[in-house]
Amino acid sequence: MKNYIIHDEWNIVEEGFDPALNNISESIFSIGNGRMGQRANFEEDYSGESLQGSYIAGVYYPDKTRVGWWKNGYPDYFAKVLNAANWIGIAIRVNGQVLDLHMAEVLQFRRVLNMREGYLMRTFTVRMPDGAIVSVEASRFCSLVDGEAAAIRYRITADNFNGTVTVCPYIDGDVSNKDANYDEKFWDEVSRSGSESRAFLTLSTKRTGFWVTTGMHYTVSDGSEDVVVAEQDVAREKFVGKSFGLPLTKGEPLTVYKYAVNLSSENHPKQTLEARASELLDKIVAKGFDQMLAEQATAWAHKWAESDIRIAGDVAAQQAIRFNIFQLYQTYTGEDDRLNIGPKGFTGEKYGGSTYWDTEAYCLPFYLATAPPEVARNLLLYRYKHLPKAIENAEKLGFGSGAALYPMVTINGEECHNEWEITFEEIHRNGAVAFAIYNYIRYTGDRTYLADHGLEVLIGIARFWAQRVSWSAERRRYVILGVTGPNEYENNVNNNWYTNTVAAWCLEYALVALAEVRTSAPDRYAAVVAKTTFRDDETDKWNAIIQQLHYPMDDVRGIFLQQDGFLDKELVPVSQLPSEQRPLNQHWSWDRILRSCYIKQADVLQGLYLFEERFDLETIRRNYDFYEPLTVHESSLSPCVHAILAAKLGDEQRAYQFYLRTARLDLDDYNNDTEDGLHITSMAGTWMSVVEGFAGMRVKDGRLHFNPMLPEKWHSYDFKVRFRGALLTVDITKTHVALSNAGHHSVTVHIFGEEFPIAPETTVMAPKYQQA
Ligand code: BGC
Repeated sequence: MKNYIIHDEWNIVEEGFDPALNNISESIFSIGNGRMGQRANFEEDYSGESLQGSYIAGVYYPDKTRVGWWKNGYPDYFAKVLNAANWIGIAIRVNGQVLDLHMAEVLQFRRVLNMREGYLMRTFTVRMPDGAIVSVEASRFCSLVDGEAAAIRYRITADNFNGTVTVCPYIDGDVSNKDANYDEKFWDEVSRSGSESRAFLTLSTKRTGFWVTTGMHYTVSDGSEDVVVAEQDVAREKFVGKSFGLPLTKGEPLTVYKYAVNLSSENHPKQTLEARASELLDKIVAKGFDQMLAEQATAWAHKWAESDIRIAGDVAAQQAIRFNIFQLYQTYTGEDDRLNIGPKGFTGEKYGGSTYWDTEAYCLPFYLATAPPEVARNLLLYRYKHLPKAIENAEKLGFGSGAALYPMVTINGEECHNEWEITFEEIHRNGAVAFAIYNYIRYTGDRTYLADHGLEVLIGIARFWAQRVSWSAERRRYVILGVTGPNEYENNVNNNWYTNTVAAWCLEYALVALAEVRTSAPDRYAAVVAKTTFRDDETDKWNAIIQQLHYPMDDVRGIFLQQDGFLDKELVPVSQLPSEQRPLNQHWSWDRILRSCYIKQADVLQGLYLFEERFDLETIRRNYDFYEPLTVHESSLSPCVHAILAAKLGDEQRAYQFYLRTARLDLDDYNNDTEDGLHITSMAGTWMSVVEGFAGMRVKDGRLHFNPMLPEKWHSYDFKVRFRGALLTVDITKTHVALSNAGHHSVTVHIFGEEFPIAPETTVMAPKYQQA
């Protein structure tokens, strides 16, 4: 765990330069706009430790897998969103010496991620080898308004000398992925070109054939007017730049503006890319940096107006929740149903930018409540469009008749991961995809989705479970063998309680969906039946499984067993593990992890969280008390589920501890892995910890219910949720719970079980505050 980020309500601040922390800070200070993202690499050269990372949404490469012993069913490739051309580069020489923080003496350094307005600013002062002292202020952002554009303002001042500066803004496409399986580079050059102040580089990806044109345009100003420079082209394969020299006078800053655009063939015909890039550059250069930044601040103000959470009395918690919300909206803005949310977003290479069950299980609730319904719908449509591939995935594993197995890891619908036991066997992911349909409809009330898209997916998923179960003559029960549950520290187990629970639930929900669509949209029902060749008698087996599925339990303790045989393990609580052995996955052999009792992330508890209305509080408590002490929370997805359950159980202190852990996971580098990138998907879990945890928000019978608690340290907190045309601010203080509605529709909410209608532009106050 680290503690170097300065606490501030709206900013992420780093003071002083520690090269050992640079990779971590590069992740934390990342910027993005849903279309592209960029780690906080430096504009000028840096020869120290750094992970260069610039990513364009949807542009990936199917890297050939590395597997020792190939087996049937393994995918051919592991897809990765590619590290794309470096568009931030501005090489600087001062009096002929390269400006490089690794080589100079750093006298001052400060990095600020301004979350309110959506930009990154870095200031530093260095002494160069010849004694020249130079100060730089560099600001940049990826524009939310002009989605394919970004802008940089780079201001350089000579503090103690008169000399020269050589500036070279450039685009460098000769980049690679650190995680390339065979050290290959994935880009080929298509073309490079330029005109005065402007340059373009078009690259294509090997095999997938995406084209990306990166364009740049620079201007220089002395503060009062534009400076005319004599530029020289710098060009080589996959590299274009413009170089110019200028005098640098003591105390008189020079400002270089670099405007950059990234256009991909996902959004434009290939042959038009450069022309469109040029038009976009014209547009943003005409606006100028200041106007672009003002528009950026306004766009972020709109986002914050509908998604902010304010916490009074706890700056660390406040900073953290804003950081989580900010990074989520930097990653996914929801206009494009071809895009999704990689666990690291645009902040690192790990997980390859692919889609995991994280989206449905964790991210969906956040977008449901903080964005217009189309955003969550687009996340669902992403999976709907992948249904044919999910059917193919199942076929590759020997299933048939329209059974669908959604991939654990995917970019285009195909499974693209290789860890058989860990990821493939996590078939519970199918449950998350089905649950997301249910969750979306429960929240939005948009029942048309079920008929139009949901039912087809549910039929495919139900068919999968119907084929995946085995009949145990011994038990006279259906069983589900050879799976990995959400807890990845157990592989290839039998009857994982969570998987069995979610499987039966999928079958039940598919039956409900069939019945509903049959009555509400008979034509559509007929069309789905024809398309899927669904037969009524298929449901006989579905019903039989629902009735006769085996669920491992321990009647003595009154708990569900994570899997058959779980109690054979030596049950030594995590509190007795030496701290230097944590995280286990960085210290123990896989063999030792697998036979231990330690749980990576919520597993049985994940099921109790999703299906809580089926269990009484005491059952939840017994399972929580049994499993939490064995849980190491080495998945970022773990603390949030525990925070929500702890809050439900009235354990405010534990809920608060888990909240801080999920919220500051990356800011404080809890799991010693922030340098790989941020845990974007678990950030939605942080939001859930506040809204579903502390505020106890649930949707029941088409209405929002709140059951709030106030962590001791907080004076108050408030948050916004959209719900069926209402935009609610939920304000929880020591004395009251108040809800106001800034939307266009009236809704009725329940606070501590009591009913309150809230018309637009009105506020209701719960008559008494009940500390849970
Ligand atoms: C977790 C998975 C998760 C993946 C991506 C793993 O560490 O165990 O549940 O899907 O990370 O976030």
